[in-house]
Amino acid sequence: MVDRRRRSVRTALVGEALRVALAGRSRTDPGGGLDIVDLGGGTGGFAVPLAVEGHRVTVVDPSPDALASLERRASDEGVSKLVRGVQGDAAELPGLAGESSADAVLCHGVLEVVDDPVQALQAMASVLREGGVLSLLVAQRNAVVLARALAGHLAEARIALQDPDGRWGATDPMPRRFDEAGITAQLADAGFMVHTVHGVRTFADLVPAAFVDSEPGAADSLAELERAASQHPAFRALATQLHILATR
Ligand SMILES: C[S@@+](CC[C@H](N)C(=O)[O-])C[C@H]1O[C@@H](n2cnc3c(N)ncnc32)[C@H](O)[C@@H]1O
Repeated sequence: MVDRRRRSVRTALVGEALRVALAGRSRTDPGGGLDIVDLGGGTGGFAVPLAVEGHRVTVVDPSPDALASLERRASDEGVSKLVRGVQGDAAELPGLAGESSADAVLCHGVLEVVDDPVQALQAMASVLREGGVLSLLVAQRNAVVLARALAGHLAEARIALQDPDGRWGATDPMPRRFDEAGITAQLADAGFMVHTVHGVRTFADLVPAAFVDSEPGAADSLAELERAASQHPAFRALATQLHILATR
């Protein structure tokens, strides 16, 4: 329960912004769902709730274990017919999902780890139909600089600040992080028009978990604070992740 509460504070804003963007999409079949591709969708944390809302979701992910969990989760929710898991890599996306086949593409927490982010963005653009929506969630460099400094790892904070990939050293498990100017330029190069940029987890990773878990009302207050700060330019720049909605 506690875990779920903390997770929902972290993902609520992304889900809300995504649903607003999807609600604005016209559907080929009125009353029917949209065609959605979730690249690196893993165990279906976003894909399955979207299927519950009636959308057809294809999850492309290289991990067979994640796809097995996705299948179980979809079955538990009674939406197996609307969720398709396909084993594969970002580079293979157009061949696996089909060019111009999707009304929306999700790429949450994946661009950081693919071999070639530029190629992955181009692949996502080719899978989207004209006017289709991209929901992109990426790790932000500034947050790790702050986190390493607050933890007393000052040299690593300085390295992350200056490293082209925003990494704090050779043992940093994250292959790359982004900043807003860099990722929006990459999106423009791949043919996307950026509509909104939100900061996600601006405070959620800084406020002590024990306080949020034990203090009545703290989780709701934290969610409200996150919402208020998500579009504030100064605080957005410190968020752990950036959530970007763009169209092709
Ligand atoms: C941090 S998880 C994010 C999962 C999900 N998108 C979410 O937000 O809950 C990263 C996912 O990317 C997948 N992944 C790793 N390398 C990938 C690649 N080259 N192409 C596509 N997906 C990849 C992993 O298997 C994993 O499921």
